[in-house]
Amino acid sequence: MKKFMMILIVLLVLVGCGKQEVNTVEAIQKRGELILLTEATFPPFEYASNDPSSVDGVNGVDIEFGKALADKLGVTLKVVDMDFDSLTVALQAGKGDIVAAGMTVNPERSNVVDFSNVYFDNGLYIIVNEDSEIESVEDLTNKKIAVQQGTTGNDFVDKLEDVEVLSFKGMVEAGLAVLNGNADASVMDVLTAQILVHNNPGLKLLENSVVSEETAIAVQKGNESLLNEVNLLLSELEESGQLQTWFDDHFDALLDQ
Ligand code: ARG
Repeated sequence: MKKFMMILIVLLVLVGCGKQEVNTVEAIQKRGELILLTEATFPPFEYASNDPSSVDGVNGVDIEFGKALADKLGVTLKVVDMDFDSLTVALQAGKGDIVAAGMTVNPERSNVVDFSNVYFDNGLYIIVNEDSEIESVEDLTNKKIAVQQGTTGNDFVDKLEDVEVLSFKGMVEAGLAVLNGNADASVMDVLTAQILVHNNPGLKLLENSVVSEETAIAVQKGNESLLNEVNLLLSELEESGQLQTWFDDHFDALLDQ
């Protein structure tokens, strides 16, 4: 019996050690720092900037949200910029507390992270050169399409038949590949597409979205305490109009005159 108890205890300890640490609100407050993971080539959600209001060289709507969340928890904010396709893995591994990266909710991601309530209704659009004959998804056959690696735009074009997919580390890079003539089209999220097209004469945005999506903040699976805080804050920011103001302000500030 004694032996059995010993084995049981050893087993319980082993299971305990193998369990993934979850960065609960308590753990974050103890650390004194909220770590936000993002990929900073996605204006107006996140973009590199030297503005004094930036955090770790990144600014945008998601950073504003991170600052407000950190304030709410009484901690400072740290922003970590990494490849978009590393974000969910890094979050799972506990390298950060939230992913705020204009991230679309989809089943594959929902399997590995928990998503907050939706904070932006998104759509994917096609960017082409002004003189392009491409008018819709159907015209993308046999064309080169630039996307940001690991994004839903990437998933979308991977499913099309007879297209050549060029995947780039950054979203802006993917858009500029069209301008430079290296790609025939790019598929990307609406606000980033609008900013790129506005700032780069020669680019054009096709009228209809190819798909509608929902954008949310991600936390580690099972991190209920943090998810609650995120959702509470999101509804406060929506009700007060602050969230919309951030979208408007960052969007407008990013447009060249
Ligand atoms: N909404 C798209 C997705 O979730 C693109 C997001 C890109 N975000 C970024 N920070 N680069 O796949």
